[in-house]
Amino acid sequence: MAEFALPKNSKIKPKGKVHKAASDAKSVKAFQVYRYDPDAGENPRYDTFEIDTENCGPMVLDALIKMKSEQDPSLTFRRSCREGICGSCSMNIDGKNGLACTTAIEDCKGKDVRITPLPHMDVIKDLVPDFTHFYAQYSSIQPWLKTVSPAPSGKERLQSPEERNKLDGLYECILCACCSTSCPSYWWNSDKFLGPAILLQAYRWLADSRDEYTGERLDELEDPFRLYRCHTIMNCANVCPKGLSPAKAIAETKKLLAERQI
Ligand code: SF4
Ligand code: F3S
Ligand code: FES
Repeated sequence: MAEFALPKNSKIKPKGKVHKAASDAKSVKAFQVYRYDPDAGENPRYDTFEIDTENCGPMVLDALIKMKSEQDPSLTFRRSCREGICGSCSMNIDGKNGLACTTAIEDCKGKDVRITPLPHMDVIKDLVPDFTHFYAQYSSIQPWLKTVSPAPSGKERLQSPEERNKLDGLYECILCACCSTSCPSYWWNSDKFLGPAILLQAYRWLADSRDEYTGERLDELEDPFRLYRCHTIMNCANVCPKGLSPAKAIAETKKLLAERQI
């Protein structure tokens, strides 16, 4: 995937502040970290953080926490679970979207490791993108079980093991947005195209045997932009840190729409 392209009018300085490792550090890895504070009115820059990897945990998130704890407390990023479950530490690492907590420092092959926010999202500060639009799109697909029939008394709405299996590869999505922000169609049409993450979530409810609003859900998706701006570029499936394939979910949705035309 192409490295994150900065806006053409950005006067980003290639080098900002340099935070050196301790003089007795034995194994130094340098990180170029995107820094931007819109409230300060300054242009973005890259700061260099030198980390002694022998004195740091193995993951990129460990390095970021070390930078913040020991070198610059103003460095801003999201994280919570630190084990690939919450989706909050998604960012662009060495030119590829991923989770900082599940990306090993030793797998970053560049001489310097460049870390930027997820591409093509507004930045709130440093590595923190603004998810407002992404969450609004998620809300628009009504991501909950919708039924008309009354719930069976005294028991849950049951599924057979085969019906439940159809949710595998869908329910694991952690809404990190690595896929959507790696999709060129989403870069240029995110105002109208739902993007791979939200379309995978939409299919999760189409595939659920208990949901009784399949027709209405398909009506909402049958649109030249919301669904059909996917041109099978496949970046989404290549970057998903959970190994999911939004492209497959999108193809299945298109198949459902084609089948109901017959
Ligand atoms: Fe993240 Fe994968 Fe879900 Fe996309 S499909 S939001 S990359 S977990
Ligand atoms: Fe984008 Fe994935 Fe389709 S990268 S164009 S959503 S196959
Ligand atoms: Fe939760 Fe990385 S901190 S996914």
